[in-house]
Amino acid sequence: MYQRILVTGANGLLGQALVARLSASVMYDVLATGNNPAPRFSGLSCGFVPMDICDREAVSRVFEDFAPSIVINCAAMTDVDGCEERRNACWRINATSVERLARECHAIGAWLIQLSTDFVFDGKAGPYTEEGRPNPVNYYGKAKLAGENAARQAGIGKWTVVRTNVVYGTGRSLPRSNFMTWVRRTLRSGTSIRVFTDQIRTPTYVHDLSDGIGRIVRHGKRGVYNLSGPELLSMYDFALQIAAAYRLDVSLVNPTTASAMAQRALRPRTTGLIILKAASELDYSPRSITQALAHLKHRTARDLCLN
Ligand SMILES: NC(=O)c1ccc[n+]([C@@H]2O[C@H](COP(=O)([O-])OP(=O)(O)OC[C@H]3O[C@@H](n4cnc5c(N)ncnc54)[C@H](OP(=O)(O)O)[C@@H]3O)[C@@H](O)[C@H]2O)c1
Repeated sequence: MYQRILVTGANGLLGQALVARLSASVMYDVLATGNNPAPRFSGLSCGFVPMDICDREAVSRVFEDFAPSIVINCAAMTDVDGCEERRNACWRINATSVERLARECHAIGAWLIQLSTDFVFDGKAGPYTEEGRPNPVNYYGKAKLAGENAARQAGIGKWTVVRTNVVYGTGRSLPRSNFMTWVRRTLRSGTSIRVFTDQIRTPTYVHDLSDGIGRIVRHGKRGVYNLSGPELLSMYDFALQIAAAYRLDVSLVNPTTASAMAQRALRPRTTGLIILKAASELDYSPRSITQALAHLKHRTARDLCLN
């Protein structure tokens, strides 16, 4: 059936990849929305309107004008340390605004797909299935968990929560680095980095994540789904793989531990997500890190040729 899909946070890393994927299908009429007055991307067959998810009137206006059947909320305050310091802003964006989106969805019978995180867990028993018991250790995780719960207000059979972790990839004019782009840029400049051996994750290639969300939409899957990469490893080992893939100097990547390096927000030690449910129900089959980095290198080269 033909669907009208509203994507929030469409200028972000995931938002851009998702809008590109969904708007390529004739089955969907996609409206991309973002904090900024204009899209950071171009050349896609979708509409764009600015929409701050904290602005009640703007949100109501967009719902009224576009009347979405599906809302995919990719908008979030994703700076984990920033969330620890600017708690009000974090709660407003990551929790209160989800409540508002859920209420708007409920009013028109739309389906809300809410993006969430492995940081809802405390990292003592990872990797986690969808049934793991949340117990966030930082403010970002607390607010995202509240956002998950708020999404349920869209109504029975009208919400999906997608948990992911360490999303990497590239997009157009992204204002923030992700782990992969930070490692690549820093090593290219010949600067050494220190990376945690005791933060264990399942890094997620953004195009696999957008593929997984596309499958959730196609199959109409409700409830909680983990969508991440297939490999569980430390951030240090991930950095080594990035360095090797881009033929950068691996000796610049130095191991450290969370206890040796202070961060404003606590991080869970071992998270990572078990993706068996998505694999069996959606045929979700994300690339290995080696394959994802090769794909990314190919895309980057192609994008540079097009520009
Ligand atoms: N990236 C990760 O490693 C990771 C891990 C786990 C979960 N997630 C979740 O995945 C989702 C997508 O994250 P991402 O990686 O795409 O992050 P991102 O690149 O930081 O994108 C988030 C987007 O949200 C927008 N935004 C922030 N406040 C907004 C507001 N009030 N109204 C409208 N838009 C607003 C941002 O706009 P500006 O660019 O203008 O600030 C940005 O475009 C989020 O829910 C995040 O919590 C991400």
